[in-house]
Amino acid sequence: MAKTSNLITAALLLLFQPFSAYAIKFQTVDAERVRMAQPDPEWPDDTPTYNATALQAQLDAHRAIWDAFAGEPKNYDMSFERICFCPEQWRGPFAMRVRSGKVESATYLSESMRESSVDPDLLRGLLTVDGVFNEIQKGLDRSYVDLQITYNETAGYPSSFYSDTSKRIADDETTFRISDLVLVDE
Ligand SMILES: *[C@@H]1O[C@H](CO)[C@@H](O)[C@H](O)[C@H]1NC(C)=O
Ligand SMILES: *[C@@H]1O[C@H](CO)[C@@H](O)[C@H](O)[C@H]1NC(C)=O
Repeated sequence: MAKTSNLITAALLLLFQPFSAYAIKFQTVDAERVRMAQPDPEWPDDTPTYNATALQAQLDAHRAIWDAFAGEPKNYDMSFERICFCPEQWRGPFAMRVRSGKVESATYLSESMRESSVDPDLLRGLLTVDGVFNEIQKGLDRSYVDLQITYNETAGYPSSFYSDTSKRIADDETTFRISDLVLVDE
């Protein structure tokens, strides 16, 4: 009798074994669905934090102020600084000469870098006022997650521009700073 019931139990186990495997599989799929419905801290929300319409209007207005202030050709000296997760050679700050709208030369302003000359590759990476305006436009066009801009209201140029392309990318936050801008007659 005992032997028979053992056999029946074994037969039942064999019979239902594939179903219990399915049950486990369905449970896993359900758990996966629930997991995907929750906001994942490892995959944060990348919706822009700003009003793009308002920032675009501010950008256009300040570009116009800058164009009127600087005139043509655009000749000016300024300090330029980049705050980023990058080497000091990239950060500056730099004393820059811009002539006819192009970076003509740059030197390091900091005590520790004063003796070094700016590498030609780095010189090409330095931004004029119009270059920073273009970066702001790029941030708006590509819907970067965060953009924070401070403009000089008299001259129109962006004195500070912070951007974060994505919350999902580490160390991509960059700030550009422009100060001590003076127009020169040449
Ligand atoms: C965004 O800015 C525009 C222009 O300043 C304004 O008309 C609009 O109401 C703003 N939208 C939101 C959601 O705040
Ligand atoms: C704005 O820019 C002009 C020209 O570079 C400068 O003289 C003035 O001090 C700046 N204003 C502020 C508030 O920084």
